[in-house]
Amino acid sequence: MEMNWNCGSRHEHERQTPVRFRRFSLIQRNRSILGVAALTLLTLANASAQDSTIRAVQNIFDPLSAPAEIVYRVSLLVLAICAGIFLVVGGLLTYAIIRYRRKGAADDREEPPQVYGAAAIELAWTVPPILIVVVLVLVTARTIGEIQKPKLPNDAEQVRIIGHRFWWEVRYPKYDVVTANEIHVPLSDRSKRIATEIVLESADVIHGFWVPQLNGKTMLVPNYRNTMWVEPYKTGIYLGNCTVLCGAQHANMLIRVIVDPPKRFQQWLNEQKATPGNDQAVEEGKRQFIANSCGACHEIGGTNAKGVFGPNLTHFASRQTLGSGVAENNEANLRSWLQDPQVLKPGCLMPNMKLGDKQLESILTYLRTLK
Ligand code: CUA
Repeated sequence: MEMNWNCGSRHEHERQTPVRFRRFSLIQRNRSILGVAALTLLTLANASAQDSTIRAVQNIFDPLSAPAEIVYRVSLLVLAICAGIFLVVGGLLTYAIIRYRRKGAADDREEPPQVYGAAAIELAWTVPPILIVVVLVLVTARTIGEIQKPKLPNDAEQVRIIGHRFWWEVRYPKYDVVTANEIHVPLSDRSKRIATEIVLESADVIHGFWVPQLNGKTMLVPNYRNTMWVEPYKTGIYLGNCTVLCGAQHANMLIRVIVDPPKRFQQWLNEQKATPGNDQAVEEGKRQFIANSCGACHEIGGTNAKGVFGPNLTHFASRQTLGSGVAENNEANLRSWLQDPQVLKPGCLMPNMKLGDKQLESILTYLRTLK
């Protein structure tokens, strides 16, 4: 059918094509146009939508970001070389065990030939190992250079992360945005790189920042600044952990990196820059928040709450989790948290504020409006 259509002239084609085929092809064409239109719309919608795929792989073998890919490649080389060594050593050992095994009572009386200074063997077990070590040192040094001194694009985004017991302070200095525990970064593209440089500091003890699919582990050391970068190739929510034992709730010092398409990332920044509206309905909650000295530890933009000891709560309700990933950010969990944070996160540094029922409910309602 195809052949006939292509060979014949336009008139021939119209003459030769039976009516029912023409109609069929018309429907098909319309369908494919509809399909393309739907796909385009979907792609456009996706360009600014948030992807809620959870990326929870906690090993280095499924990298989804440029530096993680570099680490992955070097790890494959090291594993291949080590596997080669294992096969050679294991093979020789097996050969020696079988070839020189005891062959009966006569063996017990005879000593094997005593060999001293076999130059060939000595060279065989010194020169190749030295070469292997040299290769590994050179490759590793190059990789460390690529990761620690990267040539990032000039317009790379910047995030400053400060580790606290047991949560993450997250700052976007270029935009004057402060948040906590959930780090939004833009999606990169292999044809047009979009990188995010991350500066890591600590407010108290040593913490470790590790999201294996994005980059290797980096320490947050008091009075010191470490830097790392991410360049993710897929949108979604990447999970990571604090990797240095920093106290009672170290295991619940969880990380969420939310990779958004660039447009959605900009939209998120704009939402974060805005001060929460002056909702009269929650005025009482706001008053209670200040009166119960919550504001001594927490900041809420546009209010007198200016504390820096705990997480900034300006857009608390826009976050997916509370307590640095310990629980979903919903009404029931927030109520439990306000009643006594030590229930969800025993050992965390927020004390039980012993709020009365009315105070608690008004603060709860207020916090839930901080979108
Ligand atoms: Cu912070 Cu472990």
